Amino acid sequence: MNTTKTIRMLAVTMLAGVAVVSCGGNHNVAHEDDEPVLKEAFAGKFLIGAAVNDNQVSGKDSIAAELIRRHFNTIVAENVMKSAEINPQQGVYNWEPADRFVEFGVENGMFVVGHTLVWHSQLAPWFVYDDNGRYVSADTLRERMRTYITDVVVRYKGRVNGWDVVNEVIDDDGGYRRTPFYEILGEEYIPYAFELAHAADPDAQLYLNDYAMDNPAKRDAYVRILNDLKKRGLRVDAIGMQSHAGMDYPNIAEYEKSMEAFIGTGTKVMMTEWDMSALPSVTQSANIADTTAFRREMNPYTDGLPADVDSVWNARMATMLDIALRHSDDVLRVNAWGVSDGDSWKNDWPMKGRTDYPLLFDRHYKMKPFIRGAAKAAKN
Ligand code: XIL
Repeated sequence: MNTTKTIRMLAVTMLAGVAVVSCGGNHNVAHEDDEPVLKEAFAGKFLIGAAVNDNQVSGKDSIAAELIRRHFNTIVAENVMKSAEINPQQGVYNWEPADRFVEFGVENGMFVVGHTLVWHSQLAPWFVYDDNGRYVSADTLRERMRTYITDVVVRYKGRVNGWDVVNEVIDDDGGYRRTPFYEILGEEYIPYAFELAHAADPDAQLYLNDYAMDNPAKRDAYVRILNDLKKRGLRVDAIGMQSHAGMDYPNIAEYEKSMEAFIGTGTKVMMTEWDMSALPSVTQSANIADTTAFRREMNPYTDGLPADVDSVWNARMATMLDIALRHSDDVLRVNAWGVSDGDSWKNDWPMKGRTDYPLLFDRHYKMKPFIRGAAKAAKN
């Protein structure tokens, strides 16, 4: 076959295999004809979703917006519903980005998740410190929590379907994390936050959420907290296993054990912030405010993932998804922390300026092989 003919045939084959979907803006997003629609593939098993940012929700990133509509039936805000964003100064509320996020979800018939009511990170200092930089009193903090949680949850009542009530409250040693909330109120701040959220919207699902859930000390701590909240008669619908992963963590067997231990308390589970760095792991503190100075050898794949690394990455992701599939009776939701590799937080954390490959779609919005395979298998 001569070259011209080969090229022409190739072009025809490609055209036949690719559907071009107009997405409202000046972009077109192409997906291959046989690309499974994720929310259809996993229907009846769990909701499938992603954390979204304001560019996507506002339609600025119209390709991603279209992809989100096509594939996901649940979304969570990557940043705009954190307290420092919504309530940066005392008495000052910045609702617009959060409103846009909720509106996008409601318009598209999605299960909308609020992230997160009580977290020590991305927390405005005024919330817990006085003008002299000292902790506010227990009464003051209780009052602030009441006002904040009530204002936010009531505003989105009936539209936000579930809330991460507390985020990352347990330390690696299994003890309570020494956050300002804990230092001021002790462990009682956790049930208190659940009480407030439930009073503000009795129909909303309420969750706990944390990372490194393969850690047996954390597992035991959360089993205790789940049992305690239930004993107090408080509503708690599920526990979120963030599932930030890398090539050498989590310990997959321990991760599954934790999922089973949580299910054993009669609570549903969710993978809430799923991503997997393909880059060398950086040893860092668990504080997300800390980043490590850039080192070139820690950023080895700027021109794409080598095939061998790519295949290990896909296999590890498939293994994690398979855990959710095998427990799907008790898994409410599988949620990636971002849409496509280009906008993942992992490019800048814990080391700024790297090129990472952690998500379900690559930088060109192409679906990764493992999820395509799993979706096709799930459908059959
Ligand atoms: C991250 C966002 O992805 C970043 O854009 C932001 O700069 C920092 O926070 N655990 C959580 C998420 O619960 O809220 C964090 O999100 C990632 C770790």
